[in-house]
Formats: sequence, structure tokens, C-alpha cells
Amino acid sequence: METEHQKKVKKLFDSKFVIALIKKYAPDFALKNNLSNLTITPIKKNIGLKSHHVVIRYDSDSIKDKPIFCSSNSKENRENAYKALEFVNKNGFKNTDIFLPKPILFEKELNAFFYQGIDGENLLYYISKNTDLTNYIEQTANWIAVLHSTPTKGAEKLNQENSRIKTVVPGPEKFLKKIEKNFPSHFKSVKQNFDALVKWEEQNLKNLENICLIHGDFHPENVIINKTDGKISAIDFTDICLADYTRDIGNFLQQFKFMSLGRREKEETEKYQTLFLEKYLKIRSIKKTKEIEKRINAYIAWTALRSAIYFLVKSHPEPENATQVLKECKTIIEQNI
Ligand SMILES: Nc1ncnc2c1ncn2[C@@H]1O[C@H](COP(=O)(O)OP(=O)(O)O)[C@@H](O)[C@H]1O
Ligand SMILES: [Mg+2]
Repeated sequence: METEHQKKVKKLFDSKFVIALIKKYAPDFALKNNLSNLTITPIKKNIGLKSHHVVIRYDSDSIKDKPIFCSSNSKENRENAYKALEFVNKNGFKNTDIFLPKPILFEKELNAFFYQGIDGENLLYYISKNTDLTNYIEQTANWIAVLHSTPTKGAEKLNQENSRIKTVVPGPEKFLKKIEKNFPSHFKSVKQNFDALVKWEEQNLKNLENICLIHGDFHPENVIINKTDGKISAIDFTDICLADYTRDIGNFLQQFKFMSLGRREKEETEKYQTLFLEKYLKIRSIKKTKEIEKRINAYIAWTALRSAIYFLVKSHPEPENATQVLKECKTIIEQNI
């Protein structure tokens, strides 16, 4: 028997329902694009009795290589993502030919966010293939540099709790309890490292001259490469907020390395990491100082710790992966912070 919740979520896979939704909430978009033959491709389809996480793609002849995507998750607020993408479209990426996804609508009852994206694979897919990544890495550095240059006036309210490690959700009161219960041997280390990073960051934010609009979850699976012209764009706008730009840089460097393990040689990975960082700093005319390196390292440590927490609290935990990233986090903190 299907629950009411399941019935509701499954409507997102019904083209008639989706067309009606777009006509109702985004009438201009519906007028401009012929949506009569909408085809549906599920990308993520986890529908539980009471919870869900779905990503769906909708194609039609009229929208060609700019398909519609829907992202809906019972645990994460998608209205944030909608508002953030609206803000960036209004205020950023001026006078560039870089593609930025377009927000279409947000539907409250299903917590469903619709946007127009690009047809392509993510950067992790290309890391797995034996292709040269130089061009994609350079474009990725450019994309995030342009995001970081967005004027921040009016962005204060976007995802406030995500702006500092101290208040990121799910917070320590949740994850520490779970780790203490299920993986007691990791408890002390997670707590100590978390406390050290919070302390470091609170001081860092006090000293910081400028805060930026950051992506907040900038990793290779959230970078998409257009199948037709090879141009990249980022997706997944749930965590956009005002913060230190080095947080996105540390996040990308750590996740790029982690996702390259077993897929690329160590030297090659390091070459791409250096390329990403150098290109980014050059575009933004930032001189690499010891102080900047320290901030990047701190956020590499934070990304490693965040991954460790994720591996330990997810519904099918991956303690071996957690041990590995926890060690990475610890080493950086001992040497840098
Ligand atoms: N615009 C898009 N173009 C191509 N692939 C996409 C697009 N949006 C999502 N995807 C695919 O779906 C995956 C998950 O989407 P995402 O919006 O990041 O949701 P979440 O990470 O919350 O599950 C992406 O990693 C990517 O592979
Ligand atoms: Mg994602």
C-alpha cells in the first residue's frame, strides 16, 4: 500500500501534473516554451514511507540542451535554493557568457524546487574517465570566482545558519549524540576537532575584511559540464550563504582529492589542485599569502570533518571512510591551527 506521502511525491513523475504546476507558478516560462511533450528521467528516486529525496529531469523539444530539473527533499528546505538562485541571477554573473541555471518555481507543499539547467555529466564522471581535466578545472575556478564577485547587498538573509561552522545544521547536539552511541571510539576526536575549528573560525570571521557569497557545497558532483559545448556550470544551491570565500576553495580541493582517490594518480591530482587554486587567485587578483593558505587549510579540515560526520551518521554508515577523512582533518589541525 502506498502512503499519502508516497502518492504525493510520485506526482512529480507525472508530466501532466508538472506541466500544470509550471503553468500555474511560472506562466511566462510556460508561454515561452512548448512543454506538451515532456519526458521524464529520474536521477535520484528515494521515496520512503514518510521521507524522500528526488532529483528529476524533464526534457522537451523546445528546451533542447537546457532541460528542467526538479529537486525535492523532505529533510532539506528547497525554498532556500530557489531564493538563492534568484538572488544570484539578479545580482551576479553580469557581462559574462558563463551559464547560470535559471530558477523556475518553488512549490511549498512538496518542497519542490524547479530550475532550468544544462544537459551534461558532472565533474566526478570526468574524473573517473581517462580524460584531461585542465580545461574543466580552469572553468570551474572561473565559475566560482565569478560567484564570489557577486555584490552581497541583500544576501544577508540567505541561509544564515550556514554562514558559520558553529551553526551549520545538523548541529553538534545531533551528530555528537549519534556518534557517541554508534561509534564511541570516534566521539572524542570528532568533538575535539569540531571545537577547534569553531574556535578558529569565530576568530577568523572577526578578522576578515570581506565576506562573500559562497556556494557552500562546492564539490565535483555539483559541477556540470555541458554535453554540447563543454562549458561548465554549478548546481545545488541549497547552501549558498555569506562566508569566507576560502571555504568554497578548501571544500573543492578536499573533495576533488577524495573523489580522485583510486581514480587518478596522486601527482596528477595535485597538479589539478594547484591549477585550480592558482587560476582562481589570478582571476580575483588575490596574492597567495601564508594567512590565506592557513584559511584554505582550515576549511579543507572542516570539509574532511564534515565528510567524516556524514559517513558516521548516514543510514548506511561508512566507518572506514570516516576514519580516513578524520585522520586528514586531525593532521591539518595539528599542523596549522
Ligand atoms: N542541471 C543539471 N544537469 C545535469 N545533471 C544534473 C543537473 N542537476 C542535477 N544533476 C545530477 O543530479 C545529481 C544530484 O543533483 P543535486 O541538485 O546536486 O541534488 P543533491 O545533491 O541534493 O542530491 C547531480 O550530482 C547531477 O549528477
Ligand atoms: Mg549535489
